[in-house]
Amino acid sequence: MSETSARLLSTSESDLASAAALLAAGALVAFPTETVYGLGADACNGEAVARVFEAKGRPGFNPLIVHVADTAAARQLVQWSSEAERLADSFWPGPLTLVLPLHPGSGISDLVTAGLDTLAVRVPAHPVARRLLALFNGPVAAPSANPSGRISPTTARHVMAGLSERIGAVVDDGACPVGLESTIVGLTESPALLRPGGIAGEDIRNVLGVPLKPASTQAKPNAPGQLLSHYAPGVPVRLNVRSVRKDESLLGFGKVVCRLNLSPGGDLSEAAANLFGYLHRLDAEGRPIAVSPIPDTGLGRAINDRLSRAAAPRPV
Ligand code: TXA
Ligand code: MG
Repeated sequence: MSETSARLLSTSESDLASAAALLAAGALVAFPTETVYGLGADACNGEAVARVFEAKGRPGFNPLIVHVADTAAARQLVQWSSEAERLADSFWPGPLTLVLPLHPGSGISDLVTAGLDTLAVRVPAHPVARRLLALFNGPVAAPSANPSGRISPTTARHVMAGLSERIGAVVDDGACPVGLESTIVGLTESPALLRPGGIAGEDIRNVLGVPLKPASTQAKPNAPGQLLSHYAPGVPVRLNVRSVRKDESLLGFGKVVCRLNLSPGGDLSEAAANLFGYLHRLDAEGRPIAVSPIPDTGLGRAINDRLSRAAAPRPV
Protein backbone atom coordinates (compact mmCIF):
# COMPACT_ATOMS: atom_id res chain seq x y z
CA MET A 1 0.00 0.00 0.00
CA SER A 2 1.43 3.40 -0.92
CA GLU A 3 2.25 5.78 1.90
CA THR A 4 2.09 8.84 -0.30
CA SER A 5 -0.98 10.71 -1.44
CA ALA A 6 -2.76 9.67 -4.65
CA ARG A 7 -1.84 11.46 -7.88
CA LEU A 8 -4.58 13.78 -9.04
CA LEU A 9 -5.00 13.26 -12.79
CA SER A 10 -6.91 15.37 -15.31
CA THR A 11 -9.02 14.02 -18.17
CA SER A 12 -6.38 14.87 -20.78
CA GLU A 13 -5.46 12.04 -23.13
CA SER A 14 -1.97 11.78 -21.64
CA ASP A 15 -3.30 11.66 -18.06
CA LEU A 16 -5.85 8.98 -19.04
CA ALA A 17 -3.03 7.01 -20.68
CA SER A 18 -1.14 7.26 -17.37
CA ALA A 19 -4.25 6.07 -15.53
CA ALA A 20 -4.55 3.07 -17.87
CA ALA A 21 -0.84 2.28 -17.41
CA LEU A 22 -1.25 2.40 -13.62
CA LEU A 23 -4.17 -0.05 -13.87
CA ALA A 24 -2.09 -2.35 -16.08
CA ALA A 25 0.69 -2.23 -13.46
CA GLY A 26 -1.74 -3.41 -10.77
CA ALA A 27 -2.29 -0.03 -9.09
CA LEU A 28 -5.65 1.35 -7.94
CA VAL A 29 -7.11 4.26 -9.90
CA ALA A 30 -10.31 6.07 -8.93
CA PHE A 31 -12.29 7.45 -11.86
CA PRO A 32 -15.60 9.19 -12.48
CA THR A 33 -18.63 7.31 -13.74
CA GLU A 34 -22.10 8.78 -14.33
CA THR A 35 -23.20 7.26 -10.98
CA VAL A 36 -20.38 7.71 -8.43
CA TYR A 37 -16.57 7.59 -8.50
CA GLY A 38 -15.30 4.01 -8.83
CA LEU A 39 -12.10 2.57 -7.36
CA GLY A 40 -10.70 0.70 -10.35
CA ALA A 41 -8.40 -2.32 -10.49
CA ASP A 42 -7.49 -4.78 -13.24
CA ALA A 43 -10.24 -7.41 -12.74
CA CYS A 44 -7.95 -10.21 -13.91
CA ASN A 45 -5.15 -9.36 -11.48
CA GLY A 46 -5.87 -10.96 -8.10
CA GLU A 47 -3.29 -8.89 -6.25
CA ALA A 48 -4.69 -5.64 -7.60
CA VAL A 49 -8.21 -6.71 -6.64
CA ALA A 50 -7.00 -7.67 -3.16
CA ARG A 51 -5.69 -4.11 -2.79
CA VAL A 52 -9.21 -2.79 -3.47
CA PHE A 53 -10.59 -4.73 -0.50
CA GLU A 54 -7.65 -3.61 1.62
CA ALA A 55 -7.97 0.07 0.66
CA LYS A 56 -11.72 0.16 1.31
CA GLY A 57 -11.66 -2.06 4.38
CA ARG A 58 -14.33 -4.07 2.57
CA PRO A 59 -15.55 -7.45 3.82
CA GLY A 60 -14.09 -10.14 1.59
CA PHE A 61 -17.47 -11.71 0.97
CA ASN A 62 -18.78 -8.66 -0.84
CA PRO A 63 -18.20 -9.06 -4.60
CA LEU A 64 -17.33 -6.25 -7.03
CA ILE A 65 -18.89 -4.93 -10.24
CA VAL A 66 -16.82 -5.32 -13.40
CA HIS A 67 -16.85 -2.42 -15.85
CA VAL A 68 -16.37 -3.01 -19.56
CA ALA A 69 -16.30 -0.81 -22.66
CA ASP A 70 -19.26 -2.32 -24.50
CA THR A 71 -21.78 -5.16 -24.70
CA ALA A 72 -19.44 -7.30 -26.79
CA ALA A 73 -16.86 -7.20 -23.97
CA ALA A 74 -19.54 -8.11 -21.41
CA ARG A 75 -20.61 -11.12 -23.46
CA GLN A 76 -17.09 -12.53 -23.27
CA LEU A 77 -17.35 -12.70 -19.50
CA VAL A 78 -20.87 -14.00 -18.81
CA GLN A 79 -23.55 -16.29 -20.21
CA TRP A 80 -25.71 -13.90 -22.16
CA SER A 81 -29.52 -14.17 -22.43
CA SER A 82 -32.35 -12.54 -24.35
CA GLU A 83 -33.33 -10.58 -21.22
CA ALA A 84 -29.75 -9.33 -20.88
CA GLU A 85 -29.82 -8.32 -24.54
CA ARG A 86 -33.01 -6.29 -24.15
CA LEU A 87 -31.80 -4.52 -21.03
CA ALA A 88 -28.37 -3.81 -22.53
CA ASP A 89 -29.98 -2.45 -25.71
CA SER A 90 -32.17 -0.12 -23.67
CA PHE A 91 -29.87 1.04 -20.88
CA TRP A 92 -26.19 0.52 -21.81
CA PRO A 93 -24.08 2.47 -21.68
CA GLY A 94 -25.64 3.66 -18.42
CA PRO A 95 -26.36 3.13 -14.72
CA LEU A 96 -27.48 -0.50 -14.92
CA THR A 97 -25.57 -3.55 -13.63
CA LEU A 98 -26.52 -7.06 -14.74
CA VAL A 99 -25.74 -10.16 -12.68
CA LEU A 100 -25.32 -13.19 -14.95
CA PRO A 101 -23.66 -16.62 -14.78
CA LEU A 102 -19.89 -16.24 -15.06
CA HIS A 103 -18.19 -17.90 -18.03
CA PRO A 104 -15.65 -20.44 -16.86
CA GLY A 105 -12.27 -19.29 -18.16
CA SER A 106 -13.28 -15.62 -18.22
CA GLY A 107 -9.99 -14.76 -16.53
CA ILE A 108 -11.76 -12.68 -13.87
CA SER A 109 -10.08 -13.03 -10.45
CA ASP A 110 -12.04 -15.14 -7.92
CA LEU A 111 -11.74 -12.25 -5.50
CA VAL A 112 -13.95 -10.11 -7.76
CA THR A 113 -16.87 -12.52 -7.49
CA ALA A 114 -16.05 -13.48 -3.88
CA GLY A 115 -16.25 -17.08 -5.06
CA LEU A 116 -19.79 -16.80 -6.55
CA ASP A 117 -20.47 -18.37 -9.94
CA THR A 118 -22.11 -15.15 -11.10
CA LEU A 119 -20.64 -11.83 -12.22
CA ALA A 120 -21.99 -8.29 -11.91
CA VAL A 121 -21.13 -6.36 -15.08
CA ARG A 122 -21.88 -2.92 -16.43
CA VAL A 123 -21.02 -0.58 -19.31
CA PRO A 124 -20.76 2.94 -17.86
CA ALA A 125 -21.88 5.98 -19.86
CA HIS A 126 -19.43 8.55 -18.51
CA PRO A 127 -17.10 9.61 -21.36
CA VAL A 128 -14.02 9.57 -19.07
CA ALA A 129 -14.82 6.07 -17.80
CA ARG A 130 -15.36 4.94 -21.38
CA ARG A 131 -12.08 6.41 -22.59
CA LEU A 132 -10.19 4.86 -19.69
CA LEU A 133 -11.76 1.44 -20.38
CA ALA A 134 -10.86 1.74 -24.06
CA LEU A 135 -7.24 2.65 -23.26
CA PHE A 136 -6.90 -0.10 -20.63
CA ASN A 137 -8.58 -2.55 -23.01
CA GLY A 138 -9.81 -5.03 -20.38
CA PRO A 139 -12.33 -5.50 -17.57
CA VAL A 140 -11.98 -3.13 -14.59
CA ALA A 141 -13.38 -4.10 -11.20
CA ALA A 142 -14.64 -0.98 -9.45
CA PRO A 143 -16.62 -0.57 -6.27
CA SER A 144 -17.57 2.91 -5.18
CA ALA A 145 -14.37 4.75 -4.15
CA ASN A 146 -15.19 5.24 -0.46
CA PRO A 147 -14.08 3.48 2.71
CA SER A 148 -16.49 0.56 3.18
CA GLY A 149 -19.75 1.56 4.85
CA ARG A 150 -19.27 5.32 4.41
CA ILE A 151 -21.00 7.78 2.08
CA SER A 152 -20.31 7.15 -1.62
CA PRO A 153 -18.12 9.70 -3.46
CA THR A 154 -19.55 11.94 -6.16
CA THR A 155 -16.48 14.19 -6.52
CA ALA A 156 -12.72 13.57 -6.69
CA ARG A 157 -12.44 15.55 -3.45
CA HIS A 158 -14.65 12.99 -1.66
CA VAL A 159 -12.35 10.23 -2.95
CA MET A 160 -9.22 12.04 -1.78
CA ALA A 161 -10.75 12.70 1.64
CA GLY A 162 -11.49 9.01 2.17
CA LEU A 163 -8.75 7.11 0.37
CA SER A 164 -5.88 9.37 -0.76
CA GLU A 165 -3.15 7.55 1.18
CA ARG A 166 -4.28 4.15 -0.04
CA ILE A 167 -4.56 4.42 -3.82
CA GLY A 168 -2.40 5.31 -6.83
CA ALA A 169 -4.39 8.05 -8.52
CA VAL A 170 -7.73 9.80 -8.96
CA VAL A 171 -8.98 11.07 -12.31
CA ASP A 172 -10.86 14.30 -11.57
CA ASP A 173 -13.82 15.26 -13.72
CA GLY A 174 -15.99 17.12 -11.25
CA ALA A 175 -19.34 15.90 -9.99
CA CYS A 176 -21.06 12.70 -11.15
CA PRO A 177 -24.28 13.53 -13.05
CA VAL A 178 -26.54 10.73 -11.71
CA GLY A 179 -25.16 10.70 -8.18
CA LEU A 180 -26.56 7.30 -7.13
CA GLU A 181 -25.04 3.88 -7.81
CA SER A 182 -26.29 1.74 -10.66
CA THR A 183 -29.46 -0.31 -10.44
CA ILE A 184 -28.52 -4.00 -10.09
CA VAL A 185 -30.71 -6.58 -11.84
CA GLY A 186 -30.15 -10.28 -11.24
CA LEU A 187 -30.79 -12.46 -14.29
CA THR A 188 -29.63 -15.81 -12.98
CA GLU A 189 -33.22 -16.85 -12.26
CA SER A 190 -36.34 -14.79 -12.89
CA PRO A 191 -35.38 -11.11 -13.11
CA ALA A 192 -34.85 -9.54 -9.69
CA LEU A 193 -34.10 -6.03 -8.49
CA LEU A 194 -31.02 -6.60 -6.32
CA ARG A 195 -30.35 -2.91 -5.66
CA PRO A 196 -32.46 0.12 -6.62
CA GLY A 197 -30.30 2.75 -8.33
CA GLY A 198 -29.85 5.21 -11.17
CA ILE A 199 -32.45 3.60 -13.44
CA ALA A 200 -35.95 3.36 -12.02
CA GLY A 201 -37.33 -0.15 -11.49
CA GLU A 202 -40.44 0.87 -13.44
CA ASP A 203 -38.33 1.54 -16.56
CA ILE A 204 -36.71 -1.89 -16.32
CA ARG A 205 -40.05 -3.61 -15.85
CA ASN A 206 -41.37 -1.82 -18.93
CA VAL A 207 -38.55 -3.22 -21.07
CA LEU A 208 -38.78 -6.76 -19.69
CA GLY A 209 -42.58 -6.82 -19.68
CA VAL A 210 -42.62 -8.66 -16.35
CA PRO A 211 -42.42 -7.36 -12.79
CA LEU A 212 -39.04 -7.65 -11.09
CA LYS A 213 -38.80 -9.80 -7.99
CA PRO A 214 -37.87 -7.60 -5.05
CA ALA A 215 -34.48 -8.30 -3.52
CA SER A 216 -35.93 -9.53 -0.24
CA THR A 217 -37.67 -12.56 -1.77
CA GLN A 218 -34.55 -13.53 -3.72
CA ALA A 219 -32.75 -16.78 -3.15
CA LYS A 220 -29.21 -16.15 -1.84
CA PRO A 221 -26.80 -14.75 -2.88
CA ASN A 222 -28.40 -11.38 -2.83
CA ALA A 223 -26.38 -8.20 -3.48
CA PRO A 224 -24.32 -8.58 -0.31
CA GLY A 225 -23.49 -4.86 -0.32
CA GLN A 226 -27.04 -4.30 0.77
CA LEU A 227 -25.91 -4.45 4.39
CA LEU A 228 -28.32 -2.58 6.62
CA SER A 229 -25.97 0.15 7.81
CA HIS A 230 -24.26 1.46 4.72
CA TYR A 231 -23.62 4.86 3.15
CA ALA A 232 -23.38 6.03 6.74
CA PRO A 233 -22.34 9.52 7.82
CA GLY A 234 -20.58 9.82 11.18
CA VAL A 235 -23.56 11.75 12.62
CA PRO A 236 -27.10 10.44 13.35
CA VAL A 237 -29.66 10.68 10.54
CA ARG A 238 -33.44 11.05 11.07
CA LEU A 239 -35.83 10.50 8.14
CA ASN A 240 -39.27 11.78 7.03
CA VAL A 241 -38.88 14.85 9.18
CA ARG A 242 -41.48 17.61 9.03
CA SER A 243 -40.34 19.48 12.11
CA VAL A 244 -36.64 19.93 12.70
CA ARG A 245 -35.09 19.87 16.16
CA LYS A 246 -32.89 22.75 17.28
CA ASP A 247 -29.64 20.79 17.17
CA GLU A 248 -30.28 19.28 13.71
CA SER A 249 -29.43 20.43 10.18
CA LEU A 250 -32.20 19.86 7.66
CA LEU A 251 -31.52 18.11 4.37
CA GLY A 252 -34.60 19.37 2.55
CA PHE A 253 -36.63 18.26 -0.43
CA GLY A 254 -39.34 20.23 -2.22
CA LYS A 255 -41.03 23.27 -0.76
CA VAL A 256 -39.12 23.66 2.50
CA VAL A 257 -36.84 26.56 3.21
CA CYS A 258 -33.38 25.40 4.27
CA ARG A 259 -29.72 25.85 3.41
CA LEU A 260 -29.30 22.49 1.67
CA ASN A 261 -32.32 21.43 -0.36
CA LEU A 262 -31.89 18.32 -2.56
CA SER A 263 -34.36 19.77 -5.05
CA PRO A 264 -36.51 22.81 -4.17
CA GLY A 265 -38.64 22.04 -7.25
CA GLY A 266 -39.18 18.42 -6.18
CA ASP A 267 -37.19 16.86 -9.05
CA LEU A 268 -35.99 13.35 -8.07
CA SER A 269 -33.11 13.26 -10.60
CA GLU A 270 -31.77 16.51 -9.22
CA ALA A 271 -32.17 15.17 -5.68
CA ALA A 272 -30.27 11.98 -6.57
CA ALA A 273 -27.41 13.98 -8.07
CA ASN A 274 -27.13 16.12 -4.90
CA LEU A 275 -27.70 13.39 -2.30
CA PHE A 276 -24.21 12.11 -1.46
CA GLY A 277 -22.50 15.50 -1.89
CA TYR A 278 -24.92 17.14 0.57
CA LEU A 279 -24.57 14.24 3.02
CA HIS A 280 -20.78 14.66 2.87
CA ARG A 281 -21.15 18.39 3.63
CA LEU A 282 -23.54 17.92 6.54
CA ASP A 283 -21.43 15.05 7.90
CA ALA A 284 -18.39 17.35 7.96
CA GLU A 285 -20.39 19.96 9.91
CA GLY A 286 -20.96 17.40 12.66
CA ARG A 287 -24.62 18.14 13.60
CA PRO A 288 -27.32 15.43 13.46
CA ILE A 289 -29.09 15.36 10.09
CA ALA A 290 -32.87 15.53 9.61
CA VAL A 291 -34.19 14.66 6.15
CA SER A 292 -37.47 15.81 4.56
CA PRO A 293 -39.88 13.12 3.28
CA ILE A 294 -39.04 11.99 -0.27
CA PRO A 295 -41.66 10.37 -2.54
CA ASP A 296 -41.07 6.63 -2.90
CA THR A 297 -41.53 6.43 -6.67
CA GLY A 298 -39.06 6.21 -9.58
CA LEU A 299 -35.59 7.36 -8.48
CA GLY A 300 -37.10 8.20 -5.08
CA ARG A 301 -36.94 4.49 -4.23
CA ALA A 302 -33.16 4.42 -4.66
CA ILE A 303 -32.79 7.69 -2.73
CA ASN A 304 -34.90 6.32 0.15
CA ASP A 305 -32.97 3.04 0.05
CA ARG A 306 -29.67 4.91 0.55
CA LEU A 307 -31.17 7.20 3.21
CA SER A 308 -32.65 4.34 5.22
CA ARG A 309 -29.20 2.72 5.31
CA ALA A 310 -27.60 6.03 6.31
CA ALA A 311 -30.11 6.20 9.19
CA ALA A 312 -29.83 2.55 10.28
CA PRO A 313 -28.23 1.61 13.60
CA ARG A 314 -24.45 1.28 13.14
CA PRO A 315 -22.61 -1.94 13.80
CA VAL A 316 -20.46 -1.51 16.93
O1 TXA B 1 -22.78 2.63 -9.90
C1 TXA B 1 -22.14 1.67 -9.50
O2 TXA B 1 -22.55 0.51 -9.59
C2 TXA B 1 -20.76 1.96 -8.84
C3 TXA B 1 -19.86 2.52 -9.94
C4 TXA B 1 -18.46 2.72 -9.47
O3 TXA B 1 -19.93 1.73 -11.08
N1 TXA B 1 -20.22 0.80 -8.25
C5 TXA B 1 -20.73 0.28 -7.10
O4 TXA B 1 -20.01 -0.78 -6.61
O5 TXA B 1 -21.71 0.71 -6.54
P1 TXA B 1 -20.14 -1.29 -5.12
O6 TXA B 1 -19.04 -2.27 -4.94
O7 TXA B 1 -20.15 -0.16 -4.17
O8 TXA B 1 -21.47 -2.09 -5.10
C6 TXA B 1 -21.53 -3.31 -5.80
C7 TXA B 1 -22.76 -4.07 -5.41
C8 TXA B 1 -22.65 -4.67 -4.02
O9 TXA B 1 -23.90 -4.51 -3.36
C9 TXA B 1 -22.35 -6.14 -4.32
O10 TXA B 1 -22.75 -6.97 -3.29
C10 TXA B 1 -23.14 -6.33 -5.59
O11 TXA B 1 -22.90 -5.17 -6.31
N2 TXA B 1 -22.65 -7.47 -6.39
C11 TXA B 1 -21.45 -7.59 -7.00
N3 TXA B 1 -21.34 -8.79 -7.60
C12 TXA B 1 -22.49 -9.46 -7.37
C13 TXA B 1 -22.99 -10.74 -7.74
N4 TXA B 1 -22.27 -11.60 -8.45
N5 TXA B 1 -24.23 -11.07 -7.33
C14 TXA B 1 -24.98 -10.21 -6.61
N6 TXA B 1 -24.55 -8.97 -6.23
C15 TXA B 1 -23.33 -8.61 -6.60
MG1 MG C 1 -20.52 1.13 -2.55
